[in-house]
Amino acid sequence: MIEIVIAIAICCAITVSLTLIILLAEVTIGNYGECIISINDGARELKIDGGQTLLACLNEAEIYIPSACGGKGSCGLCTLQVTRGAGDYLPTELPWISEERRKENYRLACQIKVKNDLEIIIPESCFLVREVTAEVVAITDLTHDIKEVRLKLPVDSDIVFKAGQFMQIKTPKYKLCDEPVYRAYSISSSPDDETGLEFMIRLVPNGICTTYVHQFLNVGDMVTVNGAHGEFFLQDSERDIICIAGGSGMAPIMSILLDMRYRGIKRKVTYFFGAMTKRDLFYLDELKQLEKDLDDFTFIPALSQPKPEDNWQGETGLITEVIERNMTDGSNSEAYLCGSPGMINACVNVLTGKKVPEDQIYYDKFG
Ligand SMILES: Cc1cc2nc3c(=O)[nH]c(=O)nc-3n(C[C@H](O)[C@H](O)[C@H](O)COP(=O)(O)OP(=O)(O)OC[C@H]3O[C@@H](n4cnc5c(N)ncnc54)[C@H](O)[C@@H]3O)c2cc1C
Ligand code: FES
Repeated sequence: MIEIVIAIAICCAITVSLTLIILLAEVTIGNYGECIISINDGARELKIDGGQTLLACLNEAEIYIPSACGGKGSCGLCTLQVTRGAGDYLPTELPWISEERRKENYRLACQIKVKNDLEIIIPESCFLVREVTAEVVAITDLTHDIKEVRLKLPVDSDIVFKAGQFMQIKTPKYKLCDEPVYRAYSISSSPDDETGLEFMIRLVPNGICTTYVHQFLNVGDMVTVNGAHGEFFLQDSERDIICIAGGSGMAPIMSILLDMRYRGIKRKVTYFFGAMTKRDLFYLDELKQLEKDLDDFTFIPALSQPKPEDNWQGETGLITEVIERNMTDGSNSEAYLCGSPGMINACVNVLTGKKVPEDQIYYDKFG
């Protein structure tokens, strides 16, 4: 009996000692003290407690760098220049930063832990990004897996965006996530709609943000968003425009088309939209109206797997096949693509085959 008591006492002593060692390690090893982040040659300085990622430190200081994956190192959007103090590249950064950009000290802000003073360079446009908390005023089912969410902006909000850009939506802590995470969503409404912002959000099974939006978000709730971000927007030119989208990739294209109507832009536009069956199509009435309102606009929806009951008379096949069939010489065109990375890569090949110059093909990959 006495042996059992001694064994239990030894186990307890070991457990307590290990806990103390771990706590001590957290306080000493994880404590990097105060660090200074110098931004744009000292134009601004942040004093922060070391230990967090650079992205988190900037967010805390209300400086919002684009990010779509919530800091997982899987979107490559949070790049900025770190000219001093970042140490060696991590394996997680390498796929996102070319040799060329490594020479200019580009890094992924979400992968760098601030352990000492840093010097960084960020574009001035990041200082124009705002974070606001806005009320959800409408949630509409567009298809079986895409919801449209409308937010009413606070009256003093000074968010400005170009049609095609995206916002980051903050998902609060809930049963699928222990801490808030940000995800990127393209704005689908027009920039001239100053009272609100609309988004088209497709459910990704077990996805943190989309499950929250589809199953937990209600009209009347408050949502935090920041933006606008991104280089995907209508270029100022006279060229013909080819738009290609699938699923919720409709969002930025819709914003661009609405903006063209508002600004009276008269360029020729052909819009290829890919869906599997008829139940994946939406916004058909709005697009028909745009065909009447815009000077030279053609909408070409295509179904890759139409069902007999769809009674579909339109284009069929993969969107790449439909583009191949319907497009002639693209040398005087620029193209705007939105959807899954696979679809975009395949469409870029078709477009370059149709002589659209590669530097005139713009896209946002929703992967
Ligand atoms: C610039 C930009 C704009 C975007 N705009 C939109 C938009 O307007 N509407 C929209 O619905 N989405 C948009 N996205 C995608 C969006 O940011 C999220 O990646 C997506 O909604 C999944 O988020 P989640 O938190 O639900 O899933 P997560 O929790 O991030 O992911 C769960 C799992 O699903 C996988 N996964 C992530 N995204 C996808 C996907 N799209 N399809 C299939 N599997 C996926 C992940 O690899 C992971 O394994 C955009 C992305 C970018 C980069
Ligand atoms: S790679 Fe996505 S936020 Fe850094």
